[in-house]
Amino acid sequence: MEGPTVVTRRSSEAVSVPTLSAHVAEYEDAIERILISEEEIQAKVRELGAQITEDYAGRRPLLVGVLKGAFVSMADLSRHIRLPLEFDFMAVSSYGAATKTSGVVRILKDLDHDLEDRDVILVEDIVDSGLTLNYLLKNLRTRRPATLEVCAMVQKKGIQQVELNIRYRGFEIPPEFVVGYGLDFAERYRNLPYIATLKPEAYGEV
Ligand code: IMP
Ligand code: MG
Repeated sequence: MEGPTVVTRRSSEAVSVPTLSAHVAEYEDAIERILISEEEIQAKVRELGAQITEDYAGRRPLLVGVLKGAFVSMADLSRHIRLPLEFDFMAVSSYGAATKTSGVVRILKDLDHDLEDRDVILVEDIVDSGLTLNYLLKNLRTRRPATLEVCAMVQKKGIQQVELNIRYRGFEIPPEFVVGYGLDFAERYRNLPYIATLKPEAYGEV
């Protein structure tokens, strides 16, 4: 099958990339240890995208992202799914600014799409206790989708309080609090291209 025509930019149109400023270095001073590098993440996203493309061939899945954390992985993942995709988002709140789950999930923004008879792929940033995902799956199932699968970029090992079937999983990490690639601490660090732990003193700075 022939792909789309590629139009290359002339070098005179090249975009100049600004050099990283001292502010960036300061921002990343709060990082303790990188658990998953940008390269590892990008390779995994390509792999998951290819797998989804194969599994859903001939269909037009609906990607449902859980805001806010999933916006980064959803954007990257979707560009490796070569199918006519549709997108929707839900916003839920489980923690506030704390770093431990409460088990209480509140829907802050519901979906725009009707899920009936759709092939739905729920995209989550991270599965910690699993309570958020468990609640969302139960909720979405009542809307009678044809299929419902989960893509979670990160799953913390050994601490899920509920049995979960995660069809597309990026990485398993130890049960530590991490930031980056969509994951925040007090709304910061979502834009880091890698997944990392924070230095203890960074938790005091909010
Ligand atoms: P769970 O309900 O305990 O599985 O937690 C799910 C939600 O908590 C995720 O969607 C994240 O928003 C948040 N969360 C859990 N662990 C982390 C973490 O290590 N860093 C940042 N956010 C986290
Ligand atoms: Mg989240």
